[in-house]
Amino acid sequence: MSDSAISKFFEKTREERLSIVRDFANLSSEELEILQSNNGGISFEKANNMIENAIGTFSLPLGVATSFKINGKDYLVPMVIEEPSVIAAASKGAKIARIRGGFKATADESYSIGQIQILDTDIDLAIKKIQQSSKEIITLANSKSNTLSKMNKGAKEVSCKKIDTPLGKMLIAELLIDVGDAMGANVTNTMCEAVSPLIEKITEGRTLLRILSNYSTRRIVKATAVFDKNEIGGDDVVDDIILAYQFADNDVYRAVTHNKGIMNGIIAVSNATGQDSRAIEAAANAYAARSGQYRSLSTWTKDSDGNLIGTLELPLSVGIVGGIANVHPLAKVCMKILGISSAQELACVITSTGLAQNYSAIRALSTEGIQKGHMRLHARNLAAAAGAKPEQIDKIVQKMIENKKISLDQAKEILLNFDL
Ligand code: MEV
Repeated sequence: MSDSAISKFFEKTREERLSIVRDFANLSSEELEILQSNNGGISFEKANNMIENAIGTFSLPLGVATSFKINGKDYLVPMVIEEPSVIAAASKGAKIARIRGGFKATADESYSIGQIQILDTDIDLAIKKIQQSSKEIITLANSKSNTLSKMNKGAKEVSCKKIDTPLGKMLIAELLIDVGDAMGANVTNTMCEAVSPLIEKITEGRTLLRILSNYSTRRIVKATAVFDKNEIGGDDVVDDIILAYQFADNDVYRAVTHNKGIMNGIIAVSNATGQDSRAIEAAANAYAARSGQYRSLSTWTKDSDGNLIGTLELPLSVGIVGGIANVHPLAKVCMKILGISSAQELACVITSTGLAQNYSAIRALSTEGIQKGHMRLHARNLAAAAGAKPEQIDKIVQKMIENKKISLDQAKEILLNFDL
């Protein structure tokens, strides 16, 4: 098995990085070409088929985080993100977690929830009738997906709940659907629409909305890791990180920023693999508020030896078949780099990346602060924007840091006046 703990990956040239990734993931020359092409992965024609009113394509940086070991397997984790420091932070977190075995992660089976809003009915009677006809409803739902039925997946249960609204009580029927390795939005919506005439007949009511719930609480993922106290900086740093976590868990203003750091990891991998990042964020934020107060999505404690233990748990609806993941050439290559074989495995990787990210953010915040590392990376971007050649960048960055002036003007001035 390939080792993802690649020393000084960031110091390598693009060619060197690509050849490491190629060897690690056994990429074909076509896949390598897709990574090398500078068109962001899709042609205008493809973009035009994906959305309406297309006028172009929009690229973002793609990088890989190193050192990830999850459930005993090594991963190079592709991340698409515009923000500096994020990939470095994820790699750093993974490197420390690796010392004590890496991340342990588990993901639920991929059950999606479809909702059907039922109005103008005798709610209690309608619930009884839906329960009595549940087999018929499930059979009708499953007639809409041969693929899932053949795999013994598909709709499994129908349940009912009453909700109170200012406009009166409403009945909501929920279909529980095993969508396998898909994200499952399309099949869930199709099944909900397909069964709604039958539900109207059974309940003598009127169905209004028939749609997937993105609050995917039947797709919970949990990642955990032990971070060695000596590597972190000792007992005091561990204790300060736990205090930082308590701040986030008990103050909504801090919790949003803390969870945003987790999302830096989660969304970057989701983007690289063509997932619906809006669905993921909406579900994660609802989960963070499930107690009635918006809290930290992660928890931080220590073991009896004083090592830091991080856990991240959230609902995560991702797929490796269907959707953009199968259309976007770069997303396909990113899946290959990950070498994943199920949606659950992808969910474990994404959640572990979120946890690694969170570790690095709160470790930095509890010690020297984030600006030091961040400014160095920012300075690199400025040097590049000032027109420095790759071999000039380090020296310009160093000068800006020495001069304690990190700006585009300063980068340009150094470039003009120094013999590099
Ligand atoms: C920046 O993108 C993310 C952080 O603000 C997260 C945090 O504060 O925990 C560093």
